[in-house]
Amino acid sequence: MNVLLIGSGGREHALAWKLKQSPLLGKLHSIPGSAAIKGLADCPDIDQDDFRKIHAYCAANKIELVVVGPEAPLAKGISDFLTGKGIKVFGPSQRGAMLEASKQFAKEFMDRNSIPTASFSVLYDASFAREKIKENRKYPVVIKADGLAAGKGVRICADEAEALAAVSDLMEKRIFGSSGSKVVMEEFLTGREASVMALVDGESFLMLPPARDHKRLLDGDAGPNTGGMGAVCPAEITPADLETVRNEILQRFVDGVKKERIPFCGVIFAGLMFTPDGPRTLEFNCRFGDPETQSVLPLIKSDLLALLKACAEGNLAGRELEISDQACVSVVLAAGGYPENPEKGKEISGLYKVPADALVFHAGTVKKGDSYYTNGGRVLSVTATGKDPEEARRKAYEAAAAINFKGMQYRKDIGK
Ligand code: AMP
Ligand code: GLY
Repeated sequence: MNVLLIGSGGREHALAWKLKQSPLLGKLHSIPGSAAIKGLADCPDIDQDDFRKIHAYCAANKIELVVVGPEAPLAKGISDFLTGKGIKVFGPSQRGAMLEASKQFAKEFMDRNSIPTASFSVLYDASFAREKIKENRKYPVVIKADGLAAGKGVRICADEAEALAAVSDLMEKRIFGSSGSKVVMEEFLTGREASVMALVDGESFLMLPPARDHKRLLDGDAGPNTGGMGAVCPAEITPADLETVRNEILQRFVDGVKKERIPFCGVIFAGLMFTPDGPRTLEFNCRFGDPETQSVLPLIKSDLLALLKACAEGNLAGRELEISDQACVSVVLAAGGYPENPEKGKEISGLYKVPADALVFHAGTVKKGDSYYTNGGRVLSVTATGKDPEEARRKAYEAAAAINFKGMQYRKDIGK
């Protein structure tokens, strides 16, 4: 079957790499794709938000399945649009994508469906927010912009002054635009974090191995938050906790979307905190995680395309996932100045020196002649598998050490 992959980042490069291994694949296409994805797929010059052009391209190229990577086109309704034209899409409806695009929608969905999460209230305007904050007695407290804010819309506030400042920044100064027109105030949870993704066909789900993202820029979880500096899979989570995630989070999620008639064929990504009282859902994303995907896909032995097709056809039930018993570590090489002001246009050297058993997924690069240049904050996801996390780490860091570009920065403790 011919497949169109929407997106251009490291996650999509990893998806393209994995889809290419499927015996079911005819031709792979990608919009917009990237310099690296061009090595695996046809990448026409079409905007990923131009649904009409995408549909025309699907018709002209006999695309049988569209796989959507990023959240933005999902939140704009790409899945509804193409499904309405009779094209199968792996990626949820616009309402399904609201579970990521609106914290209020997600929290209220969790509440209705008894999905464990932090207690919360929705603050609809700044003066109401200030009143609620003055009544609040428990600190720290967490204040989140309702809408999408590239992972930066969450403030952990140590005291009342910080909470009031968060309200002023998000709701009055609108530092994330209309995403801050409402905020969610929630209970501060403690514990270790992990991400669990599952493939969903609307009625059934298949849980992928748990991964752990490292969101802060610097070693030891110091420095500012980023889109993710690396990931390890599997994250060490007890079998009992994993069963709770399966039964009380993923199963209730799928039951909830079914009951509420939210078309959801795609990935549910649960950002979780493993608290002393058990797992709690911090957030839902409606797509594959980045960089989690780069550390999860190399461990999946099953034919991913067969599974995504089964989701799109509504017959995931009874399918099994074959997973390698190895570990995988993916280290992000980021540009100088990331996350505030990433420098672009630096020549990347050493890619050819990377050992053959490591994988280099391109997140933000362009190619000129035979050379790649940096073109984004997160530049490369350097990935390796090993018999245990230690071996995977060693191999990933050996590969990372072969690569260089001006200003390159990366964490030395991914997967530790
Ligand atoms: P989110 O975008 O909701 O996943 O939040 C981003 C990050 O903020 C999470 O990965 C956590 O580290 C932190 N966070 C979010 N909600 C809470 C909470 N209720 N308690 C403690 N930390 C939180
Ligand atoms: N790594 C977190 C995310 O993809 O949102």
